[in-house]
Amino acid sequence: MVQHVATVAFEGIEARAVDVQVQVAPGLPAFNVVGLPDKAVSEARERVRAALIASGLALPARRITVNMAPADLPKEGSHYDLPIALGLMAAIGANARSEGLICPYACGPEAAWASPEMEIIAAGSLIQLANHFKGSQVLMRPKPKVRETPDTLLDLKDIKGQESAKRALEIAAAGGHNLLMVGPPGAGKSMLAARLPSILPPLSPAELLEVSMVASVAGEIEEGALTNRRPFRAPHHSASMPALVGGGLRAKPGEISLAHHGVLFLDEFPEFQPAVLDSLRQPLESGDVTIVRANYRVTYPARFMMVGAMNPCRCGRASDPGFACRRGANDRCAADYQGRLSGPLIDRIDLHIEVPAVSAADLILPAPAEGSREVAARVARARDAQAARYAALGLAGIRTNAQAHGPALEEVAKLDNAGLALIRDAADAMRLSARGYHRVLRVARTLADLDVAEKIGRVHLAEALSYRALADEVRRAA
Ligand SMILES: Nc1ncnc2c1ncn2[C@@H]1O[C@H](COP(=O)(O)OP(=O)(O)O)[C@@H](O)[C@H]1O
Ligand SMILES: [Mg+2]
Repeated sequence: MVQHVATVAFEGIEARAVDVQVQVAPGLPAFNVVGLPDKAVSEARERVRAALIASGLALPARRITVNMAPADLPKEGSHYDLPIALGLMAAIGANARSEGLICPYACGPEAAWASPEMEIIAAGSLIQLANHFKGSQVLMRPKPKVRETPDTLLDLKDIKGQESAKRALEIAAAGGHNLLMVGPPGAGKSMLAARLPSILPPLSPAELLEVSMVASVAGEIEEGALTNRRPFRAPHHSASMPALVGGGLRAKPGEISLAHHGVLFLDEFPEFQPAVLDSLRQPLESGDVTIVRANYRVTYPARFMMVGAMNPCRCGRASDPGFACRRGANDRCAADYQGRLSGPLIDRIDLHIEVPAVSAADLILPAPAEGSREVAARVARARDAQAARYAALGLAGIRTNAQAHGPALEEVAKLDNAGLALIRDAADAMRLSARGYHRVLRVARTLADLDVAEKIGRVHLAEALSYRALADEVRRAA
């Protein structure tokens, strides 16, 4: 008789049903796994054999065949161990049948999110499972767990001076805008970015599920507890293209998908390989990434906020007053370095700011009165206003101004005559691209939201344009 155990194979974040069929038949003793298993699945034989022996169960000296259907779907990973072991136990009569979801103990809190109706069994060992089915030791249903945001996040209070950089950080957080910080080494760029998580609002329940799905496929959920904290990913600049956008042998999600609904921080921005940086262009526009291989394609969500930090040139001091670079003219040195960034990538960044070196006079000041808590409150208020506005327009998928496109953006960012005149002049003078024009509108909308203003005013537009001006300089260097 054949025992069936239902499990899944992953295709991106989609799950495809796999039927594990275990048969114990007369014949020469053997233990075969068929159905396109990869190395990890084939090795399940040895792990299952060891686990059963450790549980005091011996494998029968007969011919054991494990088939995983559909046979043409490649099976990868070690999560087939449990269904194979369960099927075998059922085949040798150590298990009763059961309807429900069975998972390892550590995955229990994560599995408990699946459905309140479904029976979920999270067992620490095969013995516990056998006892559960016999009824001698019934296992409790695991409880869904959420890890609350710890209070130990780095605080903006630690940063002395740098008021305009902090303001830009607040705007970026409020509207989900991409941000690029340019400044000499030691100015506090990395320090500013590291404090971004402390001012971002927690994930909404719908966002939490999306983020957790990606994290789960990547095997990044610690102790099975989901977290309502926005992801903050800071890959090193040596990162390869598959590491960043996803792919590789098993088409795993990359950093941009793991940063979904959160922040992707690229420190030392121009040091990333130019091809890797340019691969971010499409996901930055579409909010997802499709990885295509010869035999399959998977799509992962990737709606992230990109934050970059860079020095103005290789020596880092091109913007110092009175500094003369040995390589030649300061602006030549800066143009060479900044030229590593492509124009289209720069065009996708809404906020460009210069972070000047902090003066000693600033450093000896007492800590600023305003910390992350106050800023986070303003960011949360602005985000709530945005979510409510887009929900009222029937655009449930859009939650921040950064996500608003085309007609939705024109609807929410209506300008009065003075505003129209200002942006027309500025667009000519700064030679704004169509994308640049829309990005200015989005930032202006966020500035108005931070001011709790219904309409975008000239001040908002002017400030939004000022964040764009630097982009122009960098783009011309590129
Ligand atoms: N505004 C500031 N207030 C307090 N300390 C600062 C400030 N800016 C820089 N520092 C100090 O300088 C160090 C280097 O800052 P960092 O963020 O690594 O610089 P960057 O990334 O711009 O090169 C920080 O760890 C911090 O100790
Ligand atoms: Mg740094």
